Amino acid sequence: MRISVFIATSLDGYIAKPDGNIDWLMEKRYKLEGEDFGYSELYDACDLLVMGRNSYEKVASFDEWPYPGKRVIILSRSLETLPEPIGKVELFGGSVSELMETLRMENKKYLYIDGGQVIQSFLKEGVVTDITITTIPILLGEGIRLFGTLPKEKNLKLIAAQGYENGFVQSRYEVVN
Ligand SMILES: NC(=O)c1ccc[n+]([C@@H]2O[C@H](COP(=O)([O-])OP(=O)(O)OC[C@H]3O[C@@H](n4cnc5c(N)ncnc54)[C@H](OP(=O)(O)O)[C@@H]3O)[C@@H](O)[C@H]2O)c1
Repeated sequence: MRISVFIATSLDGYIAKPDGNIDWLMEKRYKLEGEDFGYSELYDACDLLVMGRNSYEKVASFDEWPYPGKRVIILSRSLETLPEPIGKVELFGGSVSELMETLRMENKKYLYIDGGQVIQSFLKEGVVTDITITTIPILLGEGIRLFGTLPKEKNLKLIAAQGYENGFVQSRYEVVN
């Protein structure tokens, strides 16, 4: 199964400010006409999204649900129901390996995973196949980290790297082992 990470980080490796704020990556000065940095290609191709409860709470607070028509699985051990079910959203309270087993039985081929803790859990499980990181030219100084501890180092192969006029730098890696 292909399992992709597609995420933006500050130059110092944070995906959000300590309170979850991500306004710094959506500033108008970063908009480039007709450029989505490869997001829609991934979004259209994936079978479903898997995200952590914290990321879900953030996107659920937006004016519009950003994943209309796409199946989204929210990982949470604390929630029994979703406060405001929107879109094609499901709750899953099991482990990453249990989720993988379920999705393999459903013959799913391509997952897009989101949220720092969730990405770290999938990395620990050793199932992430590729990582695309868009680095935003800002140092936040503190915040929510993309990466955490791992039981063992991981080797990555750089597949592509691209700079954009707005200062974003995108690197795409394949996880080798
Ligand atoms: N920069 C970007 O591109 C980007 C992208 C996505 C998100 N974000 C931001 O990142 C922040 C959220 O990231 P986060 O690292 O705090 O959390 P997260 O990964 O979105 O959510 C973590 C939560 O997911 C639940 N969970 C259940 N099973 C899990 C498992 N096996 N592994 C990990 N989590 C599991 C837990 O919730 P329970 O306590 O309910 O069990 C856990 O507290 C938000 O502010 C969001 O806006 C930024």
